[in-house]
Amino acid sequence: MSSESTLAQTPPMGWNSWNTFGGRINEAVIRETADAMVSTGLKDAGYEYVVIDDLWEADERVEGRLTWDSEIFPNGIPALADYVHDKGLKFGIYSCAGSHTCAGKPASYGYEEVDAQTFAEWGVDFLKYDFCYAPAGVDGPMLYRRMGQALRATGRPILYSLCEWGSHKPWEWGATTGGHMWRTTGDIYDAWESVLDLGFGRQVGLEAYAGPGRWNDPDMLIVGMHGEGNVARGGCTDVEYRSHFSLWCMLAAPLMIGCDVRNMSQATSDILLNTEVIALNQDLLGRQGYKVGSIDWGGEQAQVWAKPLLDGSIAVAMFNLGDMQGRRIAVAWESLGLHDRRPCTVRDLWAHEDLGTFTSSFSARVDSHDVMLVRLTPTTEV
Ligand code: GLA
Repeated sequence: MSSESTLAQTPPMGWNSWNTFGGRINEAVIRETADAMVSTGLKDAGYEYVVIDDLWEADERVEGRLTWDSEIFPNGIPALADYVHDKGLKFGIYSCAGSHTCAGKPASYGYEEVDAQTFAEWGVDFLKYDFCYAPAGVDGPMLYRRMGQALRATGRPILYSLCEWGSHKPWEWGATTGGHMWRTTGDIYDAWESVLDLGFGRQVGLEAYAGPGRWNDPDMLIVGMHGEGNVARGGCTDVEYRSHFSLWCMLAAPLMIGCDVRNMSQATSDILLNTEVIALNQDLLGRQGYKVGSIDWGGEQAQVWAKPLLDGSIAVAMFNLGDMQGRRIAVAWESLGLHDRRPCTVRDLWAHEDLGTFTSSFSARVDSHDVMLVRLTPTTEV
């Protein structure tokens, strides 16, 4: 088995600079972020990639090679990669399949091999590869295949993250390029309506395409941004961030944190560090959760999602997307493929609490924009 095929057996976890910092990155921010990932327990919880997004690049290539903006990275990218590696973390960077990045910096079209080689020499473990300024008429999958081949040729295991925003259905061809994850949507922003659109709206039906080594990516997390930073757009409540995180875990989505982890509130770290919820996302069966159904109280106001897990249990998420508090949401065993009389224990994963044994159905009152996230474990044969 080649080294690359062992990457991303569970959804990749880490941090990316874009959502909070955009163009305000520098080497101190990245070093302090790596420090914070260790000191806050994020690393121990499984978040391992520290990824620098766009705007790290100098304006021009030097002798045909990409190089960094030395104003903001005076000690250079290889030294920064070493720093991240010394913390026991992995280092990621960004480029683009077109002539320029989305922010207008030099990118990899026509330079795929030399850029892949450069990244490998710098100690890069993860490449996010964007799709701006692709030449007209050129086939997108072909451009992604070119960089996939160039990465493979370096011999270094580099996780390959495709970012063409779902434009050409990358779930159908992303894995054939060597890609381990692919964006299925445009960019997330820090508002509940963006979670509704990207998460609850656009992921339905994509579950058939995900599995170990190949994941649908509904974009980075906005948990904990609270209306600050590069993709700020009003922010969400902590309840909404918790529902967003629950859905991304159910979707087996990559968990790339986008907030400033140097300054997390208690509520933010409680969300990002809930080990039972992360365990759903990282479950080794590698099944992406699917939408079981919805409840219409005059408009679709509740959704139920299920994710089968390796040990035979099923994670079930009941979301109240409406404005009314305390709506009762029920899930019937039949809708999950369970025999009606099969007793199941039910555990509340956010509260870390066993709720008892139920047959035929389970229901809970769920507040506005909140979630009830449980694990159903079948007990005895019927
Ligand atoms: C695109 C991507 C974003 C980010 C920016 C950087 O918009 O979708 O995630 O990488 O480019 O310029």
